[in-house]
Amino acid sequence: MKKKTLWVLVVIWGIACLCGSRGCREQERIALLALKPAFELPSWEGVKCNPTTGRVTQLMLSASRAHRFNFKTWYLNASLLLPFEELKNLDLSFNNIGGWIAPKEPNLLSSRLSKLEVLDLSFNSLDNSILSNLGTIPSLQCMFLQHNNLSIKNLSHLENLHLDGVHLKPVGTIVQALGALSSLRILSLRYNTIEGTITTQGYLGPLTSLRLLSSSTSDLSGDLPYQSLCNLAKLEELDLSFNGITGRLPTCWRNMTSIRILNLEDNEFTDSVTSSPLSSLTSLEFLSISGAHFDVPSSLGPLSNHSRLKVLLLDDTKLTIDTKVASSPPRLQLKVFGMSNSQSKGFILTSLGFLNHQYDLRIMDLSSNDLPGPFPAWLLENNTKLEKLLMANNLFTTLEVPSMTLFNLSMMDISNNNMRGELTPKFCANVPNLVHLNLSANGLERSIPYELGSIKSLFFLDLSGNNFSGGLPIHLLDSVVILNVAYNNLQGEFVFSDDTMNLNLSYLRIGHNKFTGNLSFLSSHVNLWVLDISNNFFIGKIPRLIANLSSLTALDLSKNQLDGAVPQELCNLGGLKYLDLSDNNLYGPLPSFFVAQEVSHIHLNRNKLNGTIVHALSNSSYLVTLDLSENEFSGSIPHWLGNLSQLSILLLRGNSFDGTFPKQLCSLKTLSIIDISQNNLFGPLPSCLGPINISRDYANKVTSAPYNVITNGGWSPWNYVRPFRTESYQIRRGWQEEAPLASHTVGFTAKKRLDSYKGYALLEMVGLDFSCNQFSGEIPPGIAILQDMLVLNLSNNKLTGHIPTSLLSLTKIESIDLSYNNLIGSIPEELTQLNFLEVFNVSYNNLSGAIPNKNQFGAFDESSYYGNHLLCGVPLSKNCLTTIDLNCSATKSCTKAKEDGFIDQETFYISFGVSYTMVLLVIPVVLFINPQWRQGWFHYVELVITICRGSIFTCYYFVQDSFLKLSNGRTI
Ligand SMILES: *[C@@H]1O[C@H](CO)[C@@H](O)[C@H](O)[C@H]1NC(C)=O
Ligand SMILES: *[C@@H]1O[C@H](CO)[C@@H](O)[C@H](O)[C@H]1NC(C)=O
Ligand SMILES: *[C@@H]1O[C@H](CO)[C@@H](O)[C@H](O)[C@H]1NC(C)=O
Repeated sequence: MKKKTLWVLVVIWGIACLCGSRGCREQERIALLALKPAFELPSWEGVKCNPTTGRVTQLMLSASRAHRFNFKTWYLNASLLLPFEELKNLDLSFNNIGGWIAPKEPNLLSSRLSKLEVLDLSFNSLDNSILSNLGTIPSLQCMFLQHNNLSIKNLSHLENLHLDGVHLKPVGTIVQALGALSSLRILSLRYNTIEGTITTQGYLGPLTSLRLLSSSTSDLSGDLPYQSLCNLAKLEELDLSFNGITGRLPTCWRNMTSIRILNLEDNEFTDSVTSSPLSSLTSLEFLSISGAHFDVPSSLGPLSNHSRLKVLLLDDTKLTIDTKVASSPPRLQLKVFGMSNSQSKGFILTSLGFLNHQYDLRIMDLSSNDLPGPFPAWLLENNTKLEKLLMANNLFTTLEVPSMTLFNLSMMDISNNNMRGELTPKFCANVPNLVHLNLSANGLERSIPYELGSIKSLFFLDLSGNNFSGGLPIHLLDSVVILNVAYNNLQGEFVFSDDTMNLNLSYLRIGHNKFTGNLSFLSSHVNLWVLDISNNFFIGKIPRLIANLSSLTALDLSKNQLDGAVPQELCNLGGLKYLDLSDNNLYGPLPSFFVAQEVSHIHLNRNKLNGTIVHALSNSSYLVTLDLSENEFSGSIPHWLGNLSQLSILLLRGNSFDGTFPKQLCSLKTLSIIDISQNNLFGPLPSCLGPINISRDYANKVTSAPYNVITNGGWSPWNYVRPFRTESYQIRRGWQEEAPLASHTVGFTAKKRLDSYKGYALLEMVGLDFSCNQFSGEIPPGIAILQDMLVLNLSNNKLTGHIPTSLLSLTKIESIDLSYNNLIGSIPEELTQLNFLEVFNVSYNNLSGAIPNKNQFGAFDESSYYGNHLLCGVPLSKNCLTTIDLNCSATKSCTKAKEDGFIDQETFYISFGVSYTMVLLVIPVVLFINPQWRQGWFHYVELVITICRGSIFTCYYFVQDSFLKLSNGRTI
């Protein structure tokens, strides 16, 4: 009974909704109604009927089941489609269709749907069964099958085939099947896994109508299949980028006279532009051989007749310097020229003879080439239409002013060069429409010219890492959205006047200067996403009105002279991910739940905070880093730390915590650095830590942080290339040379001294410091489960028993300190197998027996063993056969370290000091402010998705680079 009523209701509702599909004939309406339950349609928005015939022409049923999060694969009864004889466009994408139940009569579908032109079946779970029916639909021109589980059958009338993201397997059959698609004009095979080499017989051979072929990011390897590619005489666009294709280009390509677009980026060719068919392809308009291992003569002589070529991308390409002067100027006249990271020895700007003749360039990228000499202003003067100029990572010395006004220039990046001198008012006047200016990491000096503030279009301004002095021209803050002047010598009181308030300002870094003032300016800048005022002379309290900055994702107030309490109002900053209040004079207890749940890095170290931390952060389940060291906290280490499943770095050093080590922390599988030294903890050491999957996980968490997102390359058309290029450049130059702008730094006492760890080094660091407490009992063998551990410090406790031989499994360990305990027994001979051990200290215990002297142990001197009366052998002066008493007096060394921050080296006191400084080098998400940036952001996200879907490898580099941008890591 109930069921019947339900059905009646469903039908009535269905008919009511059908009124929405006006203009459709009665029969079609009934057919639609039959279709409705299958797709669980909420409305008929996607249905279109021909207004005169009343027949359905378009059925857009994309993702119609997705609204219910119904992810079960299901089978469509194809007979339901039969009534729609006039259907031209059918979209069934994103429906999780596994296949369909074909009508009984085999050809019914193809005869009834004889008008169907576009069929979108992408993002389903289709198997091959569906294709045997479709193959015969005569009118089908365009079929989307991305992201399914299919192979292809005979579709001889098909003109466009998009198989992006389809796993093509087995290759043999696919290739044969493709061969039968003789009408094909567009074939898109991007992001496929076409396993194996592409030399497979007949691949693409018969596709003589093909105009566009894309097989980018498809794991192609091996040489190009000469025979079949030679038949593609009508090809206009060919994209084989991001594969591993080797060998040379087929000579028959000289006959590809209609090719306009050729993208060979990132392959492994062994060919040269001079001898390859590229020199004959004068029809080309776009050519990219970035990272494709071509040998290119710096004069570009072989391309000089390519008068149609407008875009030429030679990033990451090895140049052969040839100074040949052409008899006549080249016909080549480019609009976009990219040649970053060329890696050529002795490469100077004049090596690029053809550049002298270019006057039509719009976008030029010569970054990361170590080019010497004065900044080439002449390039700007020759190319007055230039819009974007990317010259970062070179060795240009002076910032020369172009002699005329460059109205078109919107973006200029000359960061990380050697430019000295002044940024002149004249320079500013000549670039009146600049949107993006990056002069960071140079040696520019004197004051920041007032005139810079007059460029009203300026959106992005990065002057960080120079020697600018004087004040910050206040009206600069009128219009810019992203401003970075960190790491200069700027001074004066930092104020915003109310009438110059710029509500768009979303990214402000003035850290590492000498600004004074208080934080009252904060409350009015409600749209800030990132604020860094670290390392200045700000005073006063953190205003409670900070709660108004509800967009903040990163807040760095560290290294100032702020006092007062940590305001509870911080918890209103719902999007906050990074909070650094370290190195101030903040005092009092931590309010409970003082930050929002999402926060992932908290640094409160080196203040005067006290009290217990009963509930301070028990909600913050995304916490990765927690640094409370060198405060006056007391009470026990809270159990809820064990619930913070992402926690990687826990630093509680130098407080007055007491109680035992909470066993709840054992459930943390991602801890990589834990420092609870210099407290009053007692009881046994935890035997439970690990097995921990450490640094990789941490890396992922850091790389996915929200502030390390957008590259500073701006929105250039080849933004997607940039990350890899920069990365390989950094490797080539070495991390050490990187500008000190980015400093996601951890100060870390490992091998007898406090070192800074950041970037990779930080990710690799795994260490445990329990020193200077009252821990007792034996060293649990389980402590060695932390296999990646580099540093282990258990010194200055009350540990007893033997040194466990299980320490042998710490295969990467570099430093072990067990000094000032009550350990007995001998030093296990096995430890000599620890090949990376550099510091070993067991002094002031009750150890006995002969000191091992093999391998690394040969390098340790007697200070490693002082105060063990029964130890003998080299390096001690005591021979193992005699028993002379050594007169040593043990003095403990824990108490001092906190007050003076001094590490007693003689006693090999080893502890981690971890002080993080934040880096907000990279631009955060400024989505809501400016549609252009929002677009850029989504473009980036799409890129990451695309790249990551395409190839793990590229994804790795891409994401890694994003990270490096954040950290600019230094190895040590
Ligand atoms: C180009 O085509 C012509 C005739 O179609 C042929 O004779 C010649 O061998 C081809 N060249 C190459 C390099 O394949
Ligand atoms: C570009 O500038 C250089 C140096 O000033 C000059 O020699 C060359 O003729 C100029 N080329 C064009 C096309 O204006
Ligand atoms: C914390 O420090 C303040 C002074 O800064 C003091 O008045 C208060 O008693 C301390 N609280 C605890 C629990 O030690």
